[in-house]
Amino acid sequence: MSGCVYIAWRYIFSPSTNSAQTEPRDTMKSLLWELCLCSVLAFTSSHPWLKGRKNITLDMTTPPEPRIPGFPDRCDGLGFNAITLDNDGVSYFFRDEFVWKGFKAEARLINATWPRLPSHLQAAFRLHQPSAPELHDKIFFFKGDMVWQYNNMVPEGSFPIREKFPGIPDNLTGAVECPIGDCYANSVIFSKGNAIFVLDLTTNKMKEKLWPRVRGCTALMKWIDKYYCFRGTYFLRFNPITGHVAPQYPKDSRDYFMRCKGRGHWSKNSTVDRNIFNSCSNLSYDEFTQDQLGRIYAFRGNWYFRPDLKRDGRHPWSLNSSWPSLHGKVDGVFNWDHKMYFIKGPQLFIYKAEGSYSLIDGYPKPVEEELGITDSHIDATFVCPHTSLLYVIQGNHMRVINLEQTPRVLGNGTRISHSQVDGAMCNNLGVYLFIGTQYYLYDSPAHIASWTKPPSPKSIKEDFMACSH
Ligand SMILES: *[C@@H]1O[C@H](CO)[C@@H](O)[C@H](O)[C@H]1NC(C)=O
Ligand SMILES: *[C@@H]1O[C@H](CO)[C@@H](O)[C@H](O)[C@H]1NC(C)=O
Ligand SMILES: *[C@@H]1O[C@H](CO)[C@@H](O)[C@H](O)[C@H]1NC(C)=O
Ligand SMILES: *[C@@H]1O[C@H](CO)[C@@H](O)[C@H](O)[C@H]1NC(C)=O
Ligand SMILES: *[C@@H]1O[C@H](CO)[C@@H](O)[C@H](O)[C@H]1NC(C)=O
Ligand SMILES: *[C@@H]1O[C@H](CO)[C@@H](O)[C@H](O)[C@H]1NC(C)=O
Ligand SMILES: *[C@@H]1O[C@H](CO)[C@@H](O)[C@H](O)[C@H]1NC(C)=O
Repeated sequence: MSGCVYIAWRYIFSPSTNSAQTEPRDTMKSLLWELCLCSVLAFTSSHPWLKGRKNITLDMTTPPEPRIPGFPDRCDGLGFNAITLDNDGVSYFFRDEFVWKGFKAEARLINATWPRLPSHLQAAFRLHQPSAPELHDKIFFFKGDMVWQYNNMVPEGSFPIREKFPGIPDNLTGAVECPIGDCYANSVIFSKGNAIFVLDLTTNKMKEKLWPRVRGCTALMKWIDKYYCFRGTYFLRFNPITGHVAPQYPKDSRDYFMRCKGRGHWSKNSTVDRNIFNSCSNLSYDEFTQDQLGRIYAFRGNWYFRPDLKRDGRHPWSLNSSWPSLHGKVDGVFNWDHKMYFIKGPQLFIYKAEGSYSLIDGYPKPVEEELGITDSHIDATFVCPHTSLLYVIQGNHMRVINLEQTPRVLGNGTRISHSQVDGAMCNNLGVYLFIGTQYYLYDSPAHIASWTKPPSPKSIKEDFMACSH
């Protein structure tokens, strides 16, 4: 527990974050806090998005390692040769003979963690891809014309790159997985010099891209649902389909991905309540939704979490980092017809989901005009998979709109047993109503009507965020 106390202390007393930034700057703080809490209880769950979850606490509960004389300090600004996650969501940064685990550990020899792995790696990635069982949950390390395969830290052999990844050149500089949703198909992105190679794992077809701003990457990294090209100590975040890079990049990784003396965003003041960033805090969520690809999004103020990606770590991202032009608390979110809909006050935003989200031309438009909802006070919305019925919860009423009908008409609806619902989500398991720190899982929309007995409440923190009590 002492690790937990230390981390809690760090979390509470370190200066706050800058709300305008969306990089994992404070990650260590919030991550440590959350993961540490997780380690207190052994954890099992029937929820599919928590399946396969392993201990990701190792890095967090061990005290800081002593610096080994003669071993480098990653704050020296010399950057990295390769970066990957392991199967438990811990990041590793490689340079020469050394590896740094997580965001704050000291350098160790690579082969002290990965037996038989050579030094001076050129690229590395972990693949989480259940549809490719022979590659699933393996970590690959590249050097020259060879690739080394590991199951976490267990070596499984080395192979010529051309055998394992046909069409991919030798002497790579970076590699990162890109699942469907982020890319058009389940893929791996490789970099070499100024070129980017996208290997589609379903068809084994390789496409070469020349993205003017994603050049000269020395390492590629995916962290939760963002993609990074590192050039030495500098990094930029890129769109893995278009290669687009926002103008504020490059940034210095010493301010975001590691703790370096006198650096980092946490040294800036912020007026934002820190509990918003902590997915294990008692603050409620504004909305939840699950899309057609099974991706779960939890919304809180100007931020969202991906509870289904806990194996990659946890971090809140600003809404506009995924949905351009969207800022601040949302009232309703739902997915329908491969689009994500947001209701925010009197406005409706519709985003096309093709790799990244793009706002459809002409939006936002008035909710009233688009959905026929005249009373703009909306607490929660959901659409169940393979249906076109939008359920709208307003106070203790739930009403339904058939999205395929024009004009759309808000039905009279039914009373429900809850008077203040924060958010709602529907998937194959049923309908979730989120209220404060708890949720209620109903079998179907019909069961939410007030004449049925509400199911017993469950904890959002435990089941969605994998926090302890
Ligand atoms: C996971 O954590 C539990 C509790 O801390 C510990 O008993 C167990 O050995 C750990 N398992 C692994 C694989 O590290
Ligand atoms: C581990 O790596 C170091 C540095 O690359 C090397 O000197 C040493 O021989 C390696 N140890 C083993 C057991 O391979
Ligand atoms: C890869 O790098 C090695 C060492 O620099 C070099 O000998 C080899 O020719 C390179 N291979 C290719 C395909 O560029
Ligand atoms: C942070 O805010 C406090 C009080 O609001 C102020 O005293 C302090 O100088 C600020 N620090 C920075 C780095 O702006
Ligand atoms: C959250 O609420 C529970 C129950 O009211 C309380 O025991 C716990 O201390 C709270 N946690 C935090 C982090 O405020
Ligand atoms: C998101 O909005 C903030 C201001 O609220 C801005 O500083 C930031 O650059 C925006 N990010 C993107 C990716 O547009
Ligand atoms: C709602 O109820 C009113 C009055 O009871 C009725 O006139 C109207 O047709 C109903 N609307 C729908 C869509 O069922």
